[in-house]
Amino acid sequence: LENGLALTPQMGFNDWNAYGCAVSESLIKSTALAMHDNGMQAAGYAYVNIDDCWMTSARDSAGRLVPDPAKFPDGISGTAAYVHSLGLKLGIYEDGGTATCAGYPGSLGHETTDANTFAAWGVDYLKYDNCNNQGVSARTRYTAMRDALAATGRPILFSLCNWGEESVWTWGAPVGNSWRTTGDISASFASMVSTFHGNAGLAPYAGPGHWNDPDMLEIGNNGMSPTENRSEFSLWAEMAAPLLAGTDIAGASAETLNVLTNRNVIAVDQDSLGRQGTLVSSVNGLDVLAKPLANGDVSVVLFNETGSAATISTTAAAIGKTGASAYTLTDLWSGGTSSTTGDISASVEAHGVVMYRVSGGATGAAPSGGVHALGAGSC
Ligand code: GLA
Repeated sequence: LENGLALTPQMGFNDWNAYGCAVSESLIKSTALAMHDNGMQAAGYAYVNIDDCWMTSARDSAGRLVPDPAKFPDGISGTAAYVHSLGLKLGIYEDGGTATCAGYPGSLGHETTDANTFAAWGVDYLKYDNCNNQGVSARTRYTAMRDALAATGRPILFSLCNWGEESVWTWGAPVGNSWRTTGDISASFASMVSTFHGNAGLAPYAGPGHWNDPDMLEIGNNGMSPTENRSEFSLWAEMAAPLLAGTDIAGASAETLNVLTNRNVIAVDQDSLGRQGTLVSSVNGLDVLAKPLANGDVSVVLFNETGSAATISTTAAAIGKTGASAYTLTDLWSGGTSSTTGDISASVEAHGVVMYRVSGGATGAAPSGGVHALGAGSC
């Protein structure tokens, strides 16, 4: 969506994965303060997003949505003012049907009123869900809210959440800043891997202002090991995915924060070229992904889905690098560097990744593999 937002994938927090319906003003404020103080904001996390269950079960007499006064005593506007005072932005959740997934009033037929309400409250981001949609096409419903948001004059990032239905990636670029490509993720390695595979083939549809969204991060939610947490963060960055932390931020462990604030990996996600990495190969649970970067480097992820350590190999040529007698590999988790004449190979622990930034030589054609129906920058 050409609204000037999400020129690189959005970064922030959303409460749903860790808290479900237990959202509140105090949670959002304490999370924002923690992000401000713990290095996340400095690392690029900008949005603090409220998910479902923030409102009361009925609109007011003017037809407006009403924040639950027990959960949000200062309302959404008061919450937004605090978040803004820290230099962060506030996101909210609604649904393009008659009710949200948790049963609160939806925006279908109320798009203008609700967009105006969000803008008046100081909302900067809308996640727009797909429950109770009455069979009306998602494209129609999401376009109506896009237009209502634009008419407010306030820049509001528009995140489509229709779970990949109606092949949203084929029409999402002019409608939203990102679109969910899969069903809901859960805090397990199996769910993370299946979500990754559901998103990985859609690279041609992503670019600045319009990203494939494989759902929010589960890092820190105790369903995955430290190794698996690093894998999710690496894969999401390699796929130029929105990076929305979904865990208890104020209570996050050092291990969780170290993963979420790895600047080398974030730089891959946020690279200005805006290309989603593609699968160069995927054989027997051993995957190689490559992502061209703006300065001519290529980011490579070697991902071992299997339960045993394995050697994963590719070459500079296979990832689109040519013309040098030697290339430098920077390991984005250890920080170490090494040199290669062409082979890119590592022993990768079970469920783990090795992630390199490859520099030197020229960057040639897009990496082999994946779908290339659309060229770079064509959507
Ligand atoms: C859907 C969305 C989730 C979350 C819930 C809230 O399942 O996909 O991300 O927003 O609704 O009810």
